[in-house]
Amino acid sequence: MSYQATTALTKIQALKKRIRVIQGGTSAGKTIAILLYLIDLAQTHEGLSISVVSETIPHLKRGARRDFLNIMHEHRFYQDGCWSRSDNIYTFKNRSYIEFFQPMTRVRLGVLGVMCYLSTSVIMSVIVPMTS
Ligand SMILES: Nc1ncnc2c1ncn2[C@@H]1O[C@H](COP(=O)(O)OP(=O)(O)OP(=O)(O)O)[C@@H](O)[C@H]1O
Ligand SMILES: [Mg+2]
Repeated sequence: MSYQATTALTKIQALKKRIRVIQGGTSAGKTIAILLYLIDLAQTHEGLSISVVSETIPHLKRGARRDFLNIMHEHRFYQDGCWSRSDNIYTFKNRSYIEFFQPMTRVRLGVLGVMCYLSTSVIMSVIVPMTS
């Protein structure tokens, strides 16, 4: 399966405010578009920390984390040694990383980065920069 630019991706790229909300029905392509956007962000900025969080670890593993790894393989971006399965962190060669975790399992204060919250229950996903 190949991943293409969609209207969801165009919408995300057009958002410039600090907090960005992406709405759309089930399987509208929100998660995939956000991940494509975040991967591009990581690859074009050095040392960026990006967190993708969701209500539960199983939801993340079945959803965003699996989609992320699929996209990375599909686009031939995936490199052995960059993905830490135990920590759920993919570190790019430019030191930017994308991590997946459940809120409250980790406190990240003083880290400048991008946080993406993927909701299971509502048709909304939010990208917010983490406050320092
Ligand atoms: N850009 C894309 N290119 C190819 N396939 C896509 C793309 N976006 C979405 N899809 C397909 O549609 C499916 C659903 O997309 P996605 O999981 O992003 O929807 P969603 O809006 O997050 O849905 P939910 O509200 O259930 O979380 C994906 O698993 C994938 O198969
Ligand atoms: Mg989703």
